Amino acid sequence: MVRIILPMCLISIIMVSLANQHVKAQVNCGEVIFKLLSCESFLFGYSSHPNAECCASARDLVQAANASRDVRRATCHCLKNAVQSIPVNLTNAANLTSLCHLSLDIPISPSVDCDSL
Ligand SMILES: *[C@@H]1O[C@H](CO)[C@@H](O)[C@H](O)[C@H]1NC(C)=O
Ligand SMILES: *[C@@H]1O[C@H](CO)[C@@H](O)[C@H](O)[C@H]1NC(C)=O
Ligand SMILES: *[C@@H]1O[C@H](CO)[C@@H](O)[C@H](O)[C@H]1NC(C)=O
Repeated sequence: MVRIILPMCLISIIMVSLANQHVKAQVNCGEVIFKLLSCESFLFGYSSHPNAECCASARDLVQAANASRDVRRATCHCLKNAVQSIPVNLTNAANLTSLCHLSLDIPISPSVDCDSL
């Protein structure tokens, strides 16, 4: 049941994000979250390591976020808002970038100070 409800929860977050696109930020939160759907089993704690597909998506995200400080912050805010609404496994979420060996660390955390990035 959980496996069905959580993805649906993600989809509804995407819909809300798409509807509330921030005009100023050059980051579409819906797209950010959509990318991380391939990390679903890791983020929900069903698996203890992100798979290759997940890391490839995370790498795309990090590379896109590396474009500028504004994009980095906006991406961080998208992820922060998402994990505040979706019950992900926060240990796994916080470890995603390091487990995927990504150099630019965009924290996926409900308490990160995005504006300090
Ligand atoms: C998160 O997932 C890890 C496995 O990667 C597990 O050991 C841990 O207990 C989980 N934490 C929560 C809060 O579910
Ligand atoms: C971020 O961009 C800089 C140059 O703008 C580049 O040297 C660096 O490798 C990039 N880092 C990542 C993680 O993509
Ligand atoms: C995952 O996160 C926990 C808590 O932040 C940390 O203690 C642990 O070393 C991390 N594991 C890896 C593989 O990065």
